[in-house]
Formats: sequence, structure tokens, C-alpha cells
Amino acid sequence: MTYKNKIFNENCLDGAIKIPEKAIDLIIADPPYCLGKDYGNNSDKMQSEEYLRWTYKWLDIFIPKLKEDGSLYIFLSWRYSPEIFTYIKKKMLMINEIIWDRRVPSMGGSTRKFSSVHDNIGFFVNSKNYYFNLDKIRIPYDEEVKKARTRTIFIGKKWLELGYNPKDLWSISRIHRQEKERENHPTQKPLEIIDRLILASCPDNGIVLDPFLGSGTTIISAIKNNVNYCGFEINEKYFENIEKRIKNNSNMFNFNNFEIECSL
Ligand SMILES: C[S@@+](CC[C@H](N)C(=O)[O-])C[C@H]1O[C@@H](n2cnc3c(N)ncnc32)[C@H](O)[C@@H]1O
Repeated sequence: MTYKNKIFNENCLDGAIKIPEKAIDLIIADPPYCLGKDYGNNSDKMQSEEYLRWTYKWLDIFIPKLKEDGSLYIFLSWRYSPEIFTYIKKKMLMINEIIWDRRVPSMGGSTRKFSSVHDNIGFFVNSKNYYFNLDKIRIPYDEEVKKARTRTIFIGKKWLELGYNPKDLWSISRIHRQEKERENHPTQKPLEIIDRLILASCPDNGIVLDPFLGSGTTIISAIKNNVNYCGFEINEKYFENIEKRIKNNSNMFNFNNFEIECSL
């Protein structure tokens, strides 16, 4: 059975066998953070030790799926990112820690600590020869900056026209309930973030794998950006919603080019 452009309604640790080794260009993993959230299962309700053991287990299974020039992005919170980053560093090269500032509004907040408003995204690669296309994710300079740079030393500078590197601190609002992009999932990630990861780290005709699909943001972004995909979601309801989301977003991309197959 082929895995390309298919999503599977199953535990990713069981389903991983469908994916050959060294077949994947990019893994985007947004696992449970061990915060006790309700995903309709107990996946976010493990004790610390059990959570770390489980994380190391799925990492050991999925890292070998990456090609030699492949990349892994893993979303985590500050609580367990130190242990997990240290673990992955034994197997891969760490390129960045991206801080995602969720732009949480200031409304009271914690009284015995600083309110936490960011996620930690680890960027790891298999070798120094990794694929990375900065030109696809450059941010255009606004007219004001361009105007400020009219001094002769800046004239003809290519970087001013190309735009700038998004850097490693991303201030992008989480998806609010009233927004059109919003799906019925507690930890849906903004498409803007996943688009940036795919555009930078998945070559044309490459394939992205997401072991923890949730609302299917990675799939929507993969189709939108013309790359192949595969992935897993354990919760049947979320899985059905991913299919609906793909259909509802079909105006955004050439839906007919893609086949969706679901299996248990
Ligand atoms: C943090 S959410 C992913 C959110 C996703 N990135 C999005 O934008 O919607 C984690 C998801 O992993 C799913 N999950 C938990 N354990 C799993 C497992 N062993 N295999 C597959 N999916 C799992 C949960 O049901 C949940 O939907």
C-alpha cells in the first residue's frame, strides 16, 4: 500500500510501518505537550517520565524515515523542550530553536510567575547538506524601510528587493474562535506557520509527514504549496474533520490533483 498523499486514522506508532525508511523530506511534528489537554483520548495526560519515554519512542521510529537531506520541526512547550531537544541532538544536527510568540493579549495573567505566551519549535536536520530555501519565505520590506534605505550605499542591493530572513522569533497570532481559518480543535496551529516550514524545508515534489495531524493544518498547507503529504491522527472525529476541511478549502487549491484515502 502506498503512503503518498494519504492520511491514516490510527496511532502513528502503529502506522509508521507503512512509511519506508529514508523516504521523507520533512517531518512536522506537533505532538501533545503533556499539558493535560483533552484530545478525546489520554495522549496529553501522561506523567512526565512516561511522556518522555513515549516521545523518545516515536522519535526513534520516525527520524529514520527522513532522507539524508531531510529536516524535522518539532513543536513543544518550554517544560519538556530541554530534555527532548537534548535527546534529538544525539541523532540530528540542531539548526534553530524558533520561538513562536502566540500574541496572547495582556489580561491579568499569572500572579506567581511570568505568563507563558510562547511555543518552542526545534529545527533539526540529518546532515549539513540539508534542503533550505530562504527565498521562498523572505518577508518583503515595507515602503518605509525601503525609503529609509535610499542612501547611495543601499542602491542596487539585492537583499532590499528580496526581503528579509524571518529570523527565529515569530510573532503570529493564534487562531481565534471567530476566524475563518478556525477548526474545531483545541490546539490548531496557524497556516502561516506551517506554510513557512513547508516552503523553507520541503523541495518541489517532496513529501511532508505529520504524525499528529490534529485539524490537518499540515495537509492543507502541503496541498496549497504543491508538495506531497502523509500523516496520522488517532482521533476519529478529528480525522473526519480533516477530510471536511480539505473539501471546504478546495477553492484554495487544485483539489482534483490529490487523492485522499483514509484507512483504519
Ligand atoms: C497538538 S495536536 C496537533 C495540532 C495540529 N498541528 C493542528 O494544527 O491542528 C496533537 C494531535 O495528536 C493526536 N495524537 C495524539 N497521540 C497520537 C498518536 N499516538 N498517533 C496519532 N495521533 C495522535 C491528538 O489526537 C491531537 O489531535
